[in-house]
Order: sequence, then structure tokens, then C-alpha cells
Amino acid sequence: MSRKPLCAGNWKMNLARAEATALCRALRAGIGHPLGVDIVVFPSATLLQTVGAELANSPFAWGGQDVHPEARGAFTGDVAAFQLKDLGCGWVLCGHSERRRDHSEDDFQIGRKMIAAERESLRPILCVGETAEERERGDTFSVLTRQVRGALAAGARQFEIAYEPVWAIGTGAAATPEMAQDAHAFLRGELEQSCGSEVAERTRLLYGGSVKMELALPLIAQKDIDGFLVGGASLDSEQFLTIIAASARSLRDGG
Ligand code: PGA
Repeated sequence: MSRKPLCAGNWKMNLARAEATALCRALRAGIGHPLGVDIVVFPSATLLQTVGAELANSPFAWGGQDVHPEARGAFTGDVAAFQLKDLGCGWVLCGHSERRRDHSEDDFQIGRKMIAAERESLRPILCVGETAEERERGDTFSVLTRQVRGALAAGARQFEIAYEPVWAIGTGAAATPEMAQDAHAFLRGELEQSCGSEVAERTRLLYGGSVKMELALPLIAQKDIDGFLVGGASLDSEQFLTIIAASARSLRDGG
């Protein structure tokens, strides 16, 4: 089965509206014709309306950086799936390591967020990855198993996964293509065991963690790397457009 590459930009807690507008315009101007790649940006919730207006009718989709597991109600400061949908979002990040670290999100709660997203037809990207200490202890695969099984226990079936080793995020020290491929192959096997071969074959596995344009081609050349979740470099239109173009060139299975 061929998987369409997916390039995602995680803008994190950056940009005011004027800056977001300028970035959207640079992305639109530089993208050219549709490339056979799905592209999505994840701005702060405060920017979603602006970004939606700027990127409407373009190859770019947009999504939320987080979502609350409940449908609506008394949850101060949180954002519900229907509110993201109302702003034209098609996607949502679930369980980014910065939220696991700063908001104590656990695997089951993350799984409930995925279900909340699916109910509103938002596609979740489940973020997983080990810390430096966990890798040094030889626990990488057991951490990935716990994160994937814990999140999927809530029942999500329509999702993508981003492998983001915590030690690679924002550090400039990306995983090597071989390290990333090892983790991705493991994740695909894990998906096959938990959800069956159809889900394992169709789910796109993104690599994230210090992705820069010069690293994109060797990473995307790996069999089980289907795209990227890009942080810092997605705030630079030239970097992000080059990473998208590299993903397009990789179209595998002659797709
Ligand atoms: P980075 O962030 O590309 O800046 O390392 C990736 C992420 O956290 O999604």
C-alpha cells in the first residue's frame, strides 16, 4: 500500500497575527501546484481564525495543538474538538511531549483526546517518543509500546503517529535516519499487533525532532518514514517548503 507523505508544522507558542499572516502568505506563494503531499500547520489556538482565512482554498490544512477529551463544558482555558472544527481545522496534535511534560498528560487521557477528535472528524496525530534517559537504559521500545497501547486503549482507529524522541526536540540533534527507521519499523509492528495489518499499513508515521531541510531527504528515504512533524524549521517558509518538496520527491511505490 502506498502512503501519501504528510508534512506537519508545529508552530508551538509562537507568532502574533501579523507574523502568522506573513508566514501563511510566504507558504502560499512558494508552494506552487499541489504536490501529492498532505500539508498541515498547527498554530496557537489564538491564530487559527487568521490562519484559516489566509490558507483557505490552498494545499495547506490547519489544526489545533491540543484538544480537551470532553465534548464541552466547565474546563477553563481548554479548547473543545467542536470549536476546532468550527474554525475549519482538519487535524489535532495529541500527546506532544511538551504537553506530557508540562501538563502531566497520561497515555489514556491522550487516547480520550484522540476519540474526542475523531468524533468531530478531526484527524489526530499521536505524538510518542522516549527521553534520553529511557534510550540510555535501553527502554525505547518498551516506552513506545506503552505510549501506543495506552493511547489506543480508548479505541481510536483513524490517526497518524509522530515519533519524536524527546532528546531530539529543539536540540539540533536529530535522530539518524537509521535510528528513526528502527523506531518507525517497531511502531508499525506494534500497530499491526494492536490494530491489525490494515491500520498498520495505512497509518502514516512521521519523524519529528530537529528536522531541517538538509536532513529531510535521507530521513524520508527510509521505508517506514512517511513524513515529518517539524517544529522550529516550520516557522521559516524556505525551510518548511524545502522539507515539503523533499517529501514529495520521495513518493514511494511509484505513487
Ligand atoms: P523541533 O520540534 O523541530 O523544533 O525539534 C519538533 C516538535 O516538537 O514537534
